[in-house]
This record gives sequence, C-alpha cells and structure tokens, in this order.
Amino acid sequence: MAFYSDEVIEEVRASNDIIDVISRYVTLQRKGNSYFGLCPFHREKTPSFSATPDKQIYHCFGCGLGGNVIHFIMKVENISFKEAIEFLAERANITLPVSNYDIGMSQDELKKREANKAEMYEINKIAGRFFYDNIEKSKVAQEYILKRKIDKKTVAKYGLGFALDDNGLTKLLQSKGFKEENILGTGLVGKTEKGYMYDKFKNRFMFPIFDVRKRLIAFGGRTLESSEVMKANGIPKYVNSPENLIYSKGRHLYGLNVAKSSNEKMKRLLVVEGYMDVISPHQAGITNVVASLGTALTEQQGRLIRQYANEVVLSYDSDAAGQKAMQRGIEIMQSLGVPTRILKMEGAKDPDEYVLKYGPERFEKLVDNSISPAEYKIDLLKQEYNLSDTAEKITFLTKMAEVLSKVDNNIERDVYVDKYSTELNVGREAIIAEIEKRTIRSSYKNNKWQQPKPVVLNVDETADEKAKREREKMIIYLLTLQKKEIFEKLKDVYTEADIELSSNKGLIKRFYNLYESDDTANKDIMLICETDEEKSLVSEVMMKSNTRDDIDKFAAEIIRNIEVEKLQNEKREVLKRLQADDLTEDEKGLLGNKLQEIIIKLAKK
Ligand code: CTP
Ligand code: MN
Repeated sequence: MAFYSDEVIEEVRASNDIIDVISRYVTLQRKGNSYFGLCPFHREKTPSFSATPDKQIYHCFGCGLGGNVIHFIMKVENISFKEAIEFLAERANITLPVSNYDIGMSQDELKKREANKAEMYEINKIAGRFFYDNIEKSKVAQEYILKRKIDKKTVAKYGLGFALDDNGLTKLLQSKGFKEENILGTGLVGKTEKGYMYDKFKNRFMFPIFDVRKRLIAFGGRTLESSEVMKANGIPKYVNSPENLIYSKGRHLYGLNVAKSSNEKMKRLLVVEGYMDVISPHQAGITNVVASLGTALTEQQGRLIRQYANEVVLSYDSDAAGQKAMQRGIEIMQSLGVPTRILKMEGAKDPDEYVLKYGPERFEKLVDNSISPAEYKIDLLKQEYNLSDTAEKITFLTKMAEVLSKVDNNIERDVYVDKYSTELNVGREAIIAEIEKRTIRSSYKNNKWQQPKPVVLNVDETADEKAKREREKMIIYLLTLQKKEIFEKLKDVYTEADIELSSNKGLIKRFYNLYESDDTANKDIMLICETDEEKSLVSEVMMKSNTRDDIDKFAAEIIRNIEVEKLQNEKREVLKRLQADDLTEDEKGLLGNKLQEIIIKLAKK
C-alpha cells in the first residue's frame, strides 16, 4: 500500500500550502485564524467549509469531510492517495520516484537525475535563444512571420524562432560542454550509428513550449514547405520534441504560462488545437487561450484547466479528428465538473484564421455565443437524421430527449425544451414526457464529483453511547495536540483497554503506537487516519481546538474528568459487588478497603 516513503509524502504535503491549494477550488475568506468558504463537496448556501493555515487541515462542518491537503485533493479530484501525491508533487515541482526501479534509486542516483533535468532545461533555453537569433539570419523565416502577420513583440513574447538547414545547434551545445546524454535527451540532436551528431530540427519555424513555471520543456517545429511539397516528399507538417525526462505531452498546455494570471482564476479559458491559434488571438488582445497541441485533451490537462479556470470553451477543427477530440474533451471536462462550452467556428478554418479575417471583437462574440455540450450533441444528431422524414424525426426526438435528460440544471433544460419545440415544431409536453421517462432511469449516477457521500455519523444512538462518543472525541482531541507530556498523563488514566467504541479503537491505538514509538511533534498526524470517518473526526476536533488558547489547562481538565469518571465507575462496581449475599468476611473487608481508597482518591480530585 505504501508506495512512497513517509519522507516523500511529508515533503509533498509540506510543500503544498493547504490554503493555496484549496483557493484554486474554493473562494476562501479569512476569519481569525481560519478560512471559510462554500464546501466543494456538498451543495450549500452558507459557508461551513473551513481550513486553517497553522494546522494545514480542512473540515466541513456541513458534510463532515476533512483531512490534510492530500486528502483534500483525493476528494476534489476523485483520485487515489498515490495519484494525489503525484498531483501535488507536480504542483510543487518535486521529483517523485516514478517506477519500482526508481524507488530503489539511491539518493545519489536521484540527485544525478535532477542534475540531468536541470541541464536539459538549460539546453532547451540555449536552443530557444539560438533559434530566436536565427530569425535575423533567415529571409524565409522573416517572410513567414510577415505572411502569418506576427509582429515583433509577439515573436519575442513567445520566443519564436527558426532552425536553419545546418548543424549549428549541435555544434553550439557541444562547445558548451553539456553531457552528450542530455544533448540527445532533449531530442534536439540526433546521432548516427557511426557516432555523427546532427541537428534534428532543420528548416523549421520553431515554437518553444514552456511549462507553467516558465521552463522551456520542448519545441514544435513547423515546416515552411507548401502542402504540395510536403505531400510529395512525405515531409511532416510539424516535428515535436519527444517525451523525455522533462517533457510529457499530455501534462502541459501550450500558452498556459502566458494565460495564467499570477494567482487569480480565469473566468474562462479557451482551448484550441494549434500554436498559431493561441498566438494570433493573444496578439489581438485575447490572452485566455491555450492549446492542447493537436491531440485530444488528457485528464491531466483537464485538471490543469480546472486549476486555472472556472469555465472552459473548447474549439477544435470541424474535421472528423477534431470532432472526436471535441467529444473526448467534453467528456473529460464534464467528469471533472468544469462548466464546458463549445465554440462553433464559422467562416474560418481555425481561431488563427478567424481573428486575422474578422478581428478580435467578432472572435470574442463567437466565444460568447459558444454552445453547451447538450446543444452541441443535438446539432450533431440533427446532421445525422433527415428531419423531413417522419420516422427519422421520431428517432431523432428520442435521441434528443436522451441528451436533454442528462442536463441536470432544470432551468437550462427548460430553455432547451422551448428552443427545440419551436425550432422543430414539436409540442413542449411531448419532449418533456420523453425526458422524464429517462431522468428516472439515469438519475445523476455519473456525476460522482458533485454528489459525494457525506460522512454519516451514528444517528440512532442512546444517551449513553453519545456520552461515550463525546468522551472519546475529547481523548482524540488530546491526542491531536502532539504534546508528549499530555499523552504521558493521559495514558496513565486511559489505556487502550478503556476504548469503548469499536469505531474509535483502530484510530486511538494508532495514536498510542505513534506516541510510544515516535516523536510526534512535527508529524502530520492526519496521515494516521484510514477512513473518511476518522479523517472527519480528527479534522473536526483539530478545527475546533483552533479557537482555544489555554490548551494545557483544558487538557488537564479533560484528563481529570476522565479519571473522575473512571473512579466513579469503579465505585459503582464495588458497591454492586458488596450487595452480593454470598460474600465472606474477608471479601467484604477487601471490598470495603477498596471502596475507601476510591472515595479518598475521588475526594482528592
Ligand atoms: N500537430 C502536430 N503534428 C502534426 C500536425 C499537427 O503536432 N503533424 C499539432 C500542432 O501542435 C499543430 C496542431 O496540431 O499546431 C494543429 O494542427 P493543424 O491544424 O494542422 O496546424 P495549425 O496549428 O493550424 O498550423 P498552421 O496554421 O500553421 O497550418
Ligand atoms: Mn492554423
């Protein structure tokens, strides 16, 4: 189960401030030592979701969910513990051991890999600069820039460049003394069997790709040949850096480094296909555009989008491949719970062409008029059926009802019913009836993210059980204080055998073991929780204790109460045994002494 070492987990946790992370998903407001906001895990109108920077935990007093930053990411992204570690490591720029082989890597080997990565970033940076400087030397490159209507400022901003038809880069990199392994690793340079090294990008217009931390991780190179020449000679339109130590295609979005505005979430982010579809709108003043670089969105890219934007508008080519990518993109973004719209491109091939042809204002309008996934799907259906044929129209209508039944916003659904009943000349009621047939069946089963299970605490418990639960909650509270002195006092009066609620046994035992075997002072104790119920309980007591400043006094009081309660129970027990008829005098004497002892002890308390 433990895939990453405790040290790695702790490093990842400590490098991701919980308030920072949560702020990407929830608008938080500070109140004293804590932050409050609307819970992302259940629907609510008044904020009962809280997080504290000093304890680095969150807890929702509404649905009960709670935990540390790793637990938060697990819930909000609906991913496993291991995936959450990977997600947060990526966010904090921490290199994790990536395979079983790597786990066995020594500290030295890990260091070496880090050094190689650093060198690869450096190589890319030097290459980027080199390609940029080449523009001055190349007439074709300058002409191409003119032809694509890219201005000087944009060339500099995006670091565009040109790869000449020679081996200049290879020579430059070798002269700088980089390790051959790293030069080849970037994919900028190739090596023949005979050991001859050469530039892999030749005669190509170069687009550097940066990650969100503005490191140059890869390049895309476009040929300047005409499509006829390309076809005739089998020249690929684009050549891209290969996946390597520092570049994994599906994890990045072209232009995100520019699009993201320092900390604030973008209201809307446009996702397009190509480099120029980011650059042209940007040049015209539209900066919230990124490209998925010619492939369908991956889940990681979806998460990246969710981190930076509240809404996404997808714009893909209208060809078959583009439409397939669109469907996949819709699926991914919807499964991540991100409001998604689809841009309907009209009168141009792609955003680049559109902006150049009609200007940015009209492009903005086009974005404003983007349609919902339901409308998009219905549009596709419309093309599939001949609506002047009655039989086909009926099939179409049932399929349309299927699509509409999945729209979970009633108002939105009503709007569509109105729209399509007018447009298709069908009665509203007929459409509604078809939808209703399906809503019962489908419910919202698929939308896990918006329908989390609340942590259910025992509802039908007796007063006695309730008292026990409250007491054990107090004990758990003491244990979360991470003070060895308090634990030492507690364990004198309360042993593992005293734990009464089976639901708390595992948790309290793990706490005791931790205190016995370890210095808890700097540990993230949230990590000993195994279930949602345990996380809920621990985060609740930790969050509540946030408001106390007389901790030691309070702890002493709790311990005293536990002791008194225990003595009273013992007293009751002795009294009960004294009532028995068959006691010998000796036994009576012993019990009497015991009783006296207890009474004295109680009096001292
Ligand atoms: N792409 C690629 N490899 C290819 C073709 C395309 O990596 N052989 C990626 C590139 O990132 C490209 C995007 O897919 O930007 C979209 O491809 P396409 O629409 O063909 O190119 P455009 O970006 O529109 O390029 P241009 O406007 O220069 O024709
Ligand atoms: Mn294009």
